Amino acid sequence: MSISRRAVLATAGTALLSGCASSGTNVTGPNGTPSSLEVFSWWTEGGEHAALASLVSEFHVHNPHIDFINRAVAGGAGANAKAELARRLAAGDPPDTFQGQAGAMLDDYVDAGQLEDLGFLYQQQGWDRTLSGTLLQLTQRKGRQWSVPLDIHHINVIWANRHVCERAGVPTAPASVDDFVAALHKVAATGKNPLAISATPNEIWQVKHLMECLLLAGVGAAAWPALWRTGANWASPQVTQALEQLRTILALAVNPTAEVSWNQASAMVGRGDAAYQIMGDWTEASFVLSGLSPHLDYGWAPAPGTGEAFLFASDCFTLPKGAKDRDAAIAWLVECGSQAGQDSFTAVKGAIPPRAVIGESERGLFDVYSNWSMVEWTTKQVVGSLTHGVVARAAWNNAIDAALNQFVTTRDPARLQTALEAAAKQYAGAI
Ligand code: GAL
Repeated sequence: MSISRRAVLATAGTALLSGCASSGTNVTGPNGTPSSLEVFSWWTEGGEHAALASLVSEFHVHNPHIDFINRAVAGGAGANAKAELARRLAAGDPPDTFQGQAGAMLDDYVDAGQLEDLGFLYQQQGWDRTLSGTLLQLTQRKGRQWSVPLDIHHINVIWANRHVCERAGVPTAPASVDDFVAALHKVAATGKNPLAISATPNEIWQVKHLMECLLLAGVGAAAWPALWRTGANWASPQVTQALEQLRTILALAVNPTAEVSWNQASAMVGRGDAAYQIMGDWTEASFVLSGLSPHLDYGWAPAPGTGEAFLFASDCFTLPKGAKDRDAAIAWLVECGSQAGQDSFTAVKGAIPPRAVIGESERGLFDVYSNWSMVEWTTKQVVGSLTHGVVARAAWNNAIDAALNQFVTTRDPARLQTALEAAAKQYAGAI
């Protein structure tokens, strides 16, 4: 897909979603009964909204009789959605299906007995043969399948405004963390904001996202899983160094305590108000929607020091027990697990499909960034994200958020490391 076609698809989809998003009007299904589908997610911004709309449009090709009710709750990385979902599940009022993230985050719902086993759909649709092995494993718990992956997102990516970097004489793809810090200083000297990031309590996940990239650079991909499985190495000098780098980098960002969503931060880079952002590849979708051109206007690369690794997350959908329209929810899951559904979503979202084999002609649907990401996925060491649900459950993530909120005030890396060690002691191995 050329960039302009991709942007057109995204825009057309957005119009469609706005049209049907909150109508809530049930329409008649094939057997004469009303059919509506309440889909819960946190996709409200930029390319997120556009990609959801594109998926809904594809869904309606196969399910014209099902009314789509959009229950997206704003807040990047589910900052508000996760709490709202927990409230609804506790009140016995589940949506028909909700966005989850493959891995530890989903295990909380499985262990609480809130999800239906999806083994029957996996069998019927043959997904155990088509899904990427990494994801197939992550959707399993207690020997059963609990979710349907829709995408693979690349988490360790640095985005750069090419023009700002050229003017400051810095690379768009700093290879090491030291190179990155040197580049941030040079950009600062030109009067531009070196790094778009927000560190308010609501946006603390952006700092966690940056921190996990620095930690990954420090400990390396081979040692990454042990941090989460056994809680090893949290006291290591590599972690100390990564947290000191976090302090240095945060100190170079202009006004990080202003409330700025990830999408607004991406727009700062896109407009040339900031040089860099370290963020997942949903940022790419927002650049495309703003009419920017890859390579010409913006560049990307593995986050500094993480070139050996592909840090990933995968959005997936579930079947909550007690879904009001179970049949409609199953139709949605079938769409999410299908090639057409995954392509319609991922090609707009900046992500890649979660299937084991992506054919040549299918690759042609994706832009230059996503094609790069597909190659990275198959050639780099794949490791799971902290911020986006793969390696740590909600309670561990919450403890890390609390430690980071303190850090934003104290700027004391030693204290942060002590808090991270304590959290690891309490939660590691729980998966
Ligand atoms: C992630 C999610 C992505 C994207 C991002 C920003 O957690 O996996 O799909 O939406 O949050 O909100």
